[in-house]
Amino acid sequence: MSKKWEFLYLSQEDCITAGGTDMGGAVKAVERSFFLHGKGDFIQPGKPVIRWGGPETEETTGRIMSMPSWLGGEPYREELEKRDLLGPVNTAGIKFIPARPWNPQKYGLPRANALIIIVDPETLIPSCVMDGAIVSAMRTGAAAGVAAKYLANPDSKIFGLVGASVQGRTQLMGMKKGVPSLDICRVYDINKKTAKKFAKEMAECSQMRIEVVDSAEAALREAEVISTATIASTPYVKAEWYKEGVFHAESSFWDTHTEALQVMDLIFVDDWFQVKHHGVDVSWRAVRDGIIEESRITGNLGELISGAKKGRTDQKQRILFNPIGLAIHDLSEAHRVFQNAKQMGIGRKIRLFKNPDAWLKKIHL
Ligand SMILES: NC(=O)c1ccc[n+]([C@@H]2O[C@H](COP(=O)([O-])OP(=O)(O)OC[C@H]3O[C@@H](n4cnc5c(N)ncnc54)[C@H](O)[C@@H]3O)[C@@H](O)[C@H]2O)c1
Repeated sequence: MSKKWEFLYLSQEDCITAGGTDMGGAVKAVERSFFLHGKGDFIQPGKPVIRWGGPETEETTGRIMSMPSWLGGEPYREELEKRDLLGPVNTAGIKFIPARPWNPQKYGLPRANALIIIVDPETLIPSCVMDGAIVSAMRTGAAAGVAAKYLANPDSKIFGLVGASVQGRTQLMGMKKGVPSLDICRVYDINKKTAKKFAKEMAECSQMRIEVVDSAEAALREAEVISTATIASTPYVKAEWYKEGVFHAESSFWDTHTEALQVMDLIFVDDWFQVKHHGVDVSWRAVRDGIIEESRITGNLGELISGAKKGRTDQKQRILFNPIGLAIHDLSEAHRVFQNAKQMGIGRKIRLFKNPDAWLKKIHL
């Protein structure tokens, strides 16, 4: 048997060709990982983070995160099929994601970039290395969309968005997928040019009317579904802006005043252990600072999706979803793109080694 090993390399362009920008597919992959999370069929250690100061410096000087996980699915094959959630994953991977907040303004480069490695389930040797920026942004929008599907009022029309950059775009598409009745998006970005560009480029693909507004308050006050996805380091979302029945996905970290969580009837996160471990999200800071009791955290979204917890029981409830971002979502979505690429014959095979023992004879002083 040949001992040589090759992995498939997928560039960003390959990921697009393999369906990486298909929000419908991303939503299925992310709902799959939420479901398996709810069933406990995953392994996901707390993510190590390199930062040059305290948690708040992530928005000013950046961070580097490593996000390893294993995701199963085999025991739930039939249920996954019944729910139309692709199939089992049964493998492990890691996303390496550095982010520099000044990249867009200073270099015209994205704030966050990423590489993802997926291993062969039997040997645990890499079988795929891919760009992770698309997967990462798509899975974040998809997570908000899946949460909205389960927690927003299903007839919601107005979507309020703050932050019109990369995540703003995937939030818009994820929300539209999760709540198809949404037809107006009111968007605010501190950089008006960014908001205008967003409105021009996103109206057609989202099938929504997009209105650029002059303040976060104008974007959020009337909204039935909200996303905040900025790099703000000072909170601005106030409790009195929340309409009855609102669903708010806060994917960034500092937008909402901790006190505003007091008016929430339900607070879901993606993984409370991870949220506490990272120590940045508003839900954790509200608990840490004694603004709300820990018992006010309703649970992990996967528990709702897998049927262990209840969600909205009244149209008037205000509900927050505060995800830290899970490695299993990256793995599930990357696995979907990898499978597509293999089927379509996309990507470049790169040799890892021809003979794994050869170097042993070459060690020298
Ligand atoms: N929870 C998750 O799973 C997850 C995943 C990915 C990214 N994120 C977070 O999403 C956020 C956005 O990511 P991105 O890649 O789009 O970043 P980005 O730097 O490309 O864009 C941030 C946008 O926010 C705007 N902005 C900054 N301060 C603002 C303010 N006070 N009011 C309104 N707009 C403001 C900027 O002008 C910019 O357009 C980051 O904080 C990132 O850490 C979260």
